[in-house]
Amino acid sequence: MRARASAAPEDAALSPGGSDAALDPLDDLLEQLAEFEFDPAGFVRWAFPWGAAGTMLANEPGPEKWQLAQLERIGERLRAGEDFAAVVREAISAGHGVGKSAEVSWLILWAISTHEDTRGVVTANTETQLRTKTWAELAKWHQVFIAKELFVLTATALYSADAKHARTWRIDQIPWSASNAEAFAGLHNKGKRILVVFDEASAIDDIIWETTEGALTDTGTQIIWAAFGNPTRTTGRFHKVCRRTGAWHYDRVDAREVRFTNKGQIQEWIDEYGEDSDFVRVRVRGLFPRAGFANFIGPELVEGARRRTVPMLAWRSHQLILSVDPARFGDDWSVITLRQGLKAHWQQALSGFDGPELCGRIVELVRQYPETSCIVYDANGNGADLDSALRRAPGLPTLIPVMWGVPAKDDKHYFNQRSEAWGKMKDWLAHGEIPDDDILADELSSLDYGYDGLFRIQLQSKKDAKKNGGKSPDRADSLALSFIPELIDRKVVSARVRPQQPRKVIWSHGRQ
Ligand SMILES: Nc1ncnc2c1ncn2[C@@H]1O[C@H](COP(=O)(O)OP(=O)(O)O)[C@@H](O)[C@H]1O
Ligand SMILES: [Mg+2]
Repeated sequence: MRARASAAPEDAALSPGGSDAALDPLDDLLEQLAEFEFDPAGFVRWAFPWGAAGTMLANEPGPEKWQLAQLERIGERLRAGEDFAAVVREAISAGHGVGKSAEVSWLILWAISTHEDTRGVVTANTETQLRTKTWAELAKWHQVFIAKELFVLTATALYSADAKHARTWRIDQIPWSASNAEAFAGLHNKGKRILVVFDEASAIDDIIWETTEGALTDTGTQIIWAAFGNPTRTTGRFHKVCRRTGAWHYDRVDAREVRFTNKGQIQEWIDEYGEDSDFVRVRVRGLFPRAGFANFIGPELVEGARRRTVPMLAWRSHQLILSVDPARFGDDWSVITLRQGLKAHWQQALSGFDGPELCGRIVELVRQYPETSCIVYDANGNGADLDSALRRAPGLPTLIPVMWGVPAKDDKHYFNQRSEAWGKMKDWLAHGEIPDDDILADELSSLDYGYDGLFRIQLQSKKDAKKNGGKSPDRADSLALSFIPELIDRKVVSARVRPQQPRKVIWSHGRQ
């Protein structure tokens, strides 16, 4: 390891009168740093006190293999690009805790300290990630950085301590939002160096990628654009660049191959979920969820359920569930589903019904199907009208109002109750029977999904589905309502219905 440059005051006193700039220890340091202009790997080995007693790196040997490999690649690309015509693009998909944000921090410190007037921007999936993870990691490395006096670190920026350069020599943190894409349009620094970093890049909107792409046009400039992320989504630009489209170099990092990851925890996940589960693929192996699973439910699964005729045994002795997704807006439909065991008997889509009218329709249906054990319905938003009408209607079976947004019962695997019900519905589709309906089939297989910060399945919300040009999945949601855990756990249904003698009840009420 190379010795740290000394910035001791005795050295400074050696320069006659202290006015000779060339002998200023800080200038000396800058000169040493500049030697690493094309060598980020060498920089990282030199600039931090690896193995030095009394520092946070006392027991740390140095960068991990993947970290070093990437730094070396970047150095090579820069050395090769004599006229710097091309942007150095680097993408890494990785499991959790492999040192992505540390690598980001090193790149930032290298970029800013080895080239005068470097400019850069750093963003991440969320503002919280950016502030509390990415930037916190940068603060950690800045603290032990050999040239930390040369660069001021604030809550949102890192810039030259030389006041003359503070505006032109800096790297800023920019939380993105689809509406502030312009912030990424001004990435120019002709003839110098630009660094762009996307941390946890999977959830960064395409518009930000596109704006950045369009902005990085300066010729004769060193431009480095690096994206890191857990591969949580099979849609969007990060997924694309990780398939080596365009000029991106892509690498994947498996958390099992990194020295400091928690191996016990990883093994627990593998035991619990399976090595090829989406959970382990994303969180440990740095792999995207299984191919073809861009949508939560694949079309084959839906086709199977659509073609299947389940034997009577698979439904007759089961409770009859009426599940209702009331319309939210004028262009949505209210949809009522009747499901019994493995068979979804039918769906009715109604338009132009307000809460009380929809309630009237349900009362009619219950008369028609007196074995109905319960009515489960989305009680949120417009559902509130339906809810109050149903509560006043006499002679109805058990009412189960549902709030989709509440935490899942199985909150280890699912983000909220809706994601959980869709998960159960997905399992059911492998064996169940659904009406032969194009719209339902389409809705079932059109919903996108991802993982939340705790790596629980998070289904795309109705609002998002609509925003992305899709339709509100009213029919699919109506069916999904019959899978809320409360219902699945209920062995015996409402006291009003006697499952032991269902037919008696059918006929006495059915012919009224
Ligand atoms: N090469 C390394 N040597 C020592 N510690 C490291 C190294 N790389 C990362 N770390 C530390 O390991 C932890 C996890 O790294 P981090 O960058 O947060 O991972 P990720 O962003 O991939 O989840 C952090 O505390 C980080 O400082
Ligand atoms: Mg990180």
